[in-house]
Amino acid sequence: LKLLPRVLKAARNPDTYLELFGRKLSNPIFIAPIAYHRAIHPDGELATMKGAAEADSLYVVSSFTTTPLEDIAKNAQTNLWFQLYVTDDRSFTRELVQKAEDLGFEAICVTVDTPVVGTRNRQKRSGFVIPENLHAPYMIDATSSSVINTYSQQNPVTWKDIAWLKSFMKVPLLLKGILHPDDALMGIDHGASGIIVSNHGGRNLDTVPASIEILPYITERVNHRVPVLMDGGICRGTDVIKALALGARAVLVGKPICYGLAMAGHTGVCKVLQILQKEFETAMTLCGVSSLAEIDQNLIWKINR
Ligand SMILES: Cc1cc2nc3c(=O)[nH]c(=O)nc-3n(C[C@H](O)[C@H](O)[C@H](O)COP(=O)(O)O)c2cc1C
Repeated sequence: LKLLPRVLKAARNPDTYLELFGRKLSNPIFIAPIAYHRAIHPDGELATMKGAAEADSLYVVSSFTTTPLEDIAKNAQTNLWFQLYVTDDRSFTRELVQKAEDLGFEAICVTVDTPVVGTRNRQKRSGFVIPENLHAPYMIDATSSSVINTYSQQNPVTWKDIAWLKSFMKVPLLLKGILHPDDALMGIDHGASGIIVSNHGGRNLDTVPASIEILPYITERVNHRVPVLMDGGICRGTDVIKALALGARAVLVGKPICYGLAMAGHTGVCKVLQILQKEFETAMTLCGVSSLAEIDQNLIWKINR
């Protein structure tokens, strides 16, 4: 995917500000939900939150957080969203949503692409296991101390559950893990306020398209009815501008955040975000645009143009 820049437009000091669900955000590069941050760095989610705040980025906290939501919210210095896995125990799911809302999480991303875990050969070969002393508090049943069946196999999640969530959710509901344009439309019909195009970082179903390939089909079908976000493979500022050119309002970043967190805790998370932000601003100027509104599909080189 190639960029086709414009020149002599006096593009300077690019403005990366956007408004989403009534909030003003300084840039469109967010932290994707990632499980078990304390398996990556002892300071875990609190370090990620601090790094996000230092870089002025929005942070989506995973259902598999190893830090209680209260502790993250108490120290919150940045915009926080919560990622939800609907569990077999729907009353638990409802309480979790209400807890996140009460604590000030501004939106909820319901992950819909993981009814079971994908075939992760490299993870198996490496012998990776979650360290025994690490707990994800919302994945443990408080009464029986047993691990909650996160992927809701006894009581599979369907569109009915999305309508059910919507019936009591007070904050915007986004669907995370949409690849089919028809599902994007179904989501909107069931009350989703936003769509996150994602293939779970290539960790679920082999041979699906890359998010960036499917993104233009989804933005075309959604046709501005709700914001479309995207994650997967964002490693450079030019990746961000391509996603926005193909209609994404913002992108989420997963693995690069893990690397920053592993290397240097909150400083590493902040550094990763700042590198991406700086590269994105440079790409905007080199493409001849000064604001996000000016980024459109004319910036993408098409061979048969
Ligand atoms: C280690 C790891 C843990 C993840 N945990 C979650 C999770 O708990 N919930 C979720 O919705 N997505 C999870 N994801 C997927 C990310 O939110 C995101 O979709 C993906 O990482 C984006 O691709 P990227 O890593 O290429 O940026 C995880 C990804 C990784 C790499």
